[in-house]
Amino acid sequence: MSIRRIGILTGGGDCPGLNAVIRAVVRKAVGHHGLEVLGIREGWLGLMTGDLTPLGLDDISGILPKGGTILRTSRTNPFKTEDGPRRVLETLATHRIDALIPVGGEDTLGVALKFAEQGVKLVGIPKTIDNDLDCTDYTFGFDTAVTTATDAIDRLHTTAESHHRVMVVEVMGRHAGWIATVAGIAGGADCILVPEVPFDIEEVCELVQRRKARGKDFSIVVVAEGAKPKDSKVQVTTTDKVDAFGHVRLGGIGTVVSEEIERRTGIETRVTILGHIQRGGSPTPFDRVLATRFGIKAVDMVLAGDFGKMVALQGNQIVAVPLADAVRRLKTLDMGLYDIAKVFFG
Ligand code: F6P
Repeated sequence: MSIRRIGILTGGGDCPGLNAVIRAVVRKAVGHHGLEVLGIREGWLGLMTGDLTPLGLDDISGILPKGGTILRTSRTNPFKTEDGPRRVLETLATHRIDALIPVGGEDTLGVALKFAEQGVKLVGIPKTIDNDLDCTDYTFGFDTAVTTATDAIDRLHTTAESHHRVMVVEVMGRHAGWIATVAGIAGGADCILVPEVPFDIEEVCELVQRRKARGKDFSIVVVAEGAKPKDSKVQVTTTDKVDAFGHVRLGGIGTVVSEEIERRTGIETRVTILGHIQRGGSPTPFDRVLATRFGIKAVDMVLAGDFGKMVALQGNQIVAVPLADAVRRLKTLDMGLYDIAKVFFG
């Protein structure tokens, strides 16, 4: 079957680089191959409600450096509603969409896999600041989040030193410590707490005190939002509510760690929670280029009929991997990288 019309959607949490990927898909599909592209608004929700818009070359002009997504996004899971899957399939048929390009993280691409198994022709594109999708070395959005977090750590360093305080900085990343570790190494953190390694608060305090004893009367402690103390099974969250994919809203562990450090060491301690600042703003050149390469490869795969797969970065090559492999498990932190970070603790 020849491909005439492609649909594209962005789902899940937004991240810098989404507009770059939309631009690349439209430039390649419309500009080079004379195909039609339909933009689906708000992720899978747009396919349930029929909220689509044609995307031509004028629509994507100037969006490359912009954060967010011109298509908007949502954390909608069609499989959580009785008629969601049927409505999605109907919209695809009504709008004569020959192939779909869903851009998302584990949730959006997990839904994509289910539709691929039902015969929908699609090619997934991985995005997330968390960098926790398997089979790809990097997702776009991650480099920008790390750049923002590193800049914040640099700024906290100077004020920590002036006031001889401990500065705790909480970063995102959900159940993976990628942002914490990479930004922590780049920013010269004195301690990094990640979800993959439950921490002992007493050891953190000892480390801060050891630094003080050798004349360093300030410390930077980077805490991933999903970090957990050794002696507790409880995850610190901001609310009991879960989203359509069953995820709790993490956040607040930085405050707990900060209060404990001050109580146990007597050293004045402050906490900064970076939150969604890490998700906003203009993508770095690395993320713009990665998103662009992903978008171009996805269109190539659609035209080659290479469906049920995800584009991925492996080494310096953009390759195709089975979607099922990419969403089977989370890509948690590379412990070799964490070992490097640990050399600089204390
Ligand atoms: O998955 C991206 C991410 O930013 C996580 O790091 C974070 O836990 C979550 O999304 C926050 O989600 P929301 O935007 O729904 O608060």
